[in-house]
Amino acid sequence: MTIKIVGIISSPRHQGNTAFLVRKALAGAKNNDAEVEEIFLPEYNLEFCKGCFTCLREGKCSTADDLETLREKLILSDGIIVSSPTHGLEPNAIMKNFMDRIGLFSVYTSLLADKYVASISTTGSIGAKKVAKKMTNINGGFMKTGYFSGILGIAIDWDHVKNYPEHLDKAYSLGETLVDDIRNEKKYYTQKLFTKIINALIIKKIMKKNILEHKDDRMKAVYNYLVKEGEF
Ligand SMILES: Cc1cc2nc3c(=O)[nH]c(=O)nc-3n(C[C@H](O)[C@H](O)[C@H](O)COP(=O)(O)O)c2cc1C
Repeated sequence: MTIKIVGIISSPRHQGNTAFLVRKALAGAKNNDAEVEEIFLPEYNLEFCKGCFTCLREGKCSTADDLETLREKLILSDGIIVSSPTHGLEPNAIMKNFMDRIGLFSVYTSLLADKYVASISTTGSIGAKKVAKKMTNINGGFMKTGYFSGILGIAIDWDHVKNYPEHLDKAYSLGETLVDDIRNEKKYYTQKLFTKIINALIIKKIMKKNILEHKDDRMKAVYNYLVKEGEF
């Protein structure tokens, strides 16, 4: 079976630092026999989340833009390289918006929980590792938490990362590792252990109670999903 990897670039700079590293990671994945696709997020029409919760009720977003196209690409992938420049010590607004838009699908219906994630951020001086780590939550949820194969946070001052072969090599290796992990079904049992324990002991019970109370109205799609998963 061919392993599919998507690389999501949220920097508006097509030839910028983050894009450069993601393309290297995709090259590493491709060299490891994966099928790869670049998603340059600024080229997609993605409005802000309206907070209407249609996704929880109907299993689909109410806004007719490119979200469904992107969601489909993620569903069909085995691994996701997620990336953002560090803006104000956070992922940039384009990435934050994207994570908002797919967030509830992940949190409630474990949309991406079986995917492996590698994340990349670049920065002038500080914050890239923190930002890269934050983005690994993209496949987290209270029912299931996915895996991440590694993070890459690179500070490059005002230079361009293309001038640093050691950073490019790290990105390339990250892409290779991501594919190895998928192929070997690496389980990373201790990853996000604290979150998993809190979810299992506390959050899951609270969420399930709330979902049950609203199974015929605002949590309908979530409830149906959890029935299929054998949770009710
Ligand atoms: C709006 C904005 C906010 C930024 N915030 C930070 C920051 O908090 N810390 C930092 O070290 N660099 C910061 N930078 C610098 C970028 O993180 C850095 O230039 C990055 O490599 C740009 O990535 P790109 O080429 O992929 O767009 C910021 C740049 C912009 C435009």
